[in-house]
Amino acid sequence: MKGVAFYFSGTGNTLYVSKLLKESFKKREITLDLFSVENIKTVEDKYNFYVFLGPIYAEFFPEILTNFIKEKVPFVKGKKAIIISTQAGGYAPTGIGSFSDILEKKGFNIVLEHPIKMPNNYYVVAFKKPTNEDIKNAKENAIKEAEYITKKFINGKKERKKISTLRKKSMYLIYILVNKSFKTWARKKLTVKLDKCINCNKCINECPTNNIYKENNKFLFKDKCQSCMRCLHMCPVNAFKYKKKGFEQYKINRRHEIKN
Ligand SMILES: Cc1cc2nc3c(=O)[nH]c(=O)nc-3n(C[C@H](O)[C@H](O)[C@H](O)COP(=O)(O)O)c2cc1C
Ligand code: SF4
Ligand code: SF4
Repeated sequence: MKGVAFYFSGTGNTLYVSKLLKESFKKREITLDLFSVENIKTVEDKYNFYVFLGPIYAEFFPEILTNFIKEKVPFVKGKKAIIISTQAGGYAPTGIGSFSDILEKKGFNIVLEHPIKMPNNYYVVAFKKPTNEDIKNAKENAIKEAEYITKKFINGKKERKKISTLRKKSMYLIYILVNKSFKTWARKKLTVKLDKCINCNKCINECPTNNIYKENNKFLFKDKCQSCMRCLHMCPVNAFKYKKKGFEQYKINRRHEIKN
């Protein structure tokens, strides 16, 4: 049996979980190919089952992940799908439920919807910065969660939460507004301290939406930001400034330090 996992991960939490899941399936002699949705042009329906993973932004999965499903994933006939969210707080059932609806329209049979609590990567804007202890605990817990998901899937047990259409629709309206503000977030809030910058261009090359560019040696941002936090946390010399002030980078689980 061979499955595939498509993930989006701004700062590494979801990639970390995706890798644990791959390991957990491997232990049971099931192959799980991993792909970031950023690098995929088309998807061929050649797998026995599918996994979709992403972080929760304001209760929903980021646009980059939902657009990938809508535009790149083909119609499949009843293939099993697992949906996994990572988020800093509690369960975000509305986002997962709405995502399942899109996949069902593509012919998927949703067998598991599972949230995994991971460290908050959004602390420059909201909520607390996770401590090293929080991060250690979350990483350990994610190992158990990956095992739980794999076993449940193999045993054929279903796990889905029923969310009312009214709730999904009303929460989605809020998300549309918030998502609009995400798009201009980098342009409005980020600057680069040029005397610190070593011109490695990593931020430009690794932004998932090609939102960053340089003109006359100045860093500029378009209005297609996902608010994913990657650029400011991955800069090797911490040259980004948020609201003109420096900040502490999210060091322990940086995406670029975890290889596929
Ligand atoms: C723009 C943005 C919005 C977020 N909104 C929420 C939220 O509504 N609820 C929550 O629990 N966590 C929220 N988070 C935290 C992330 O979902 C969490 O840290 C996630 O594991 C990050 O995954 P990644 O490292 O794969 O990008 C948000 C993070 C970002 C960047
Ligand atoms: S990642 Fe940092 S050092 Fe590299 S170009 Fe961007 S701002 Fe400069
Ligand atoms: S500009 Fe920064 S926060 Fe916005 S999408 Fe690109 S990497 Fe993410």
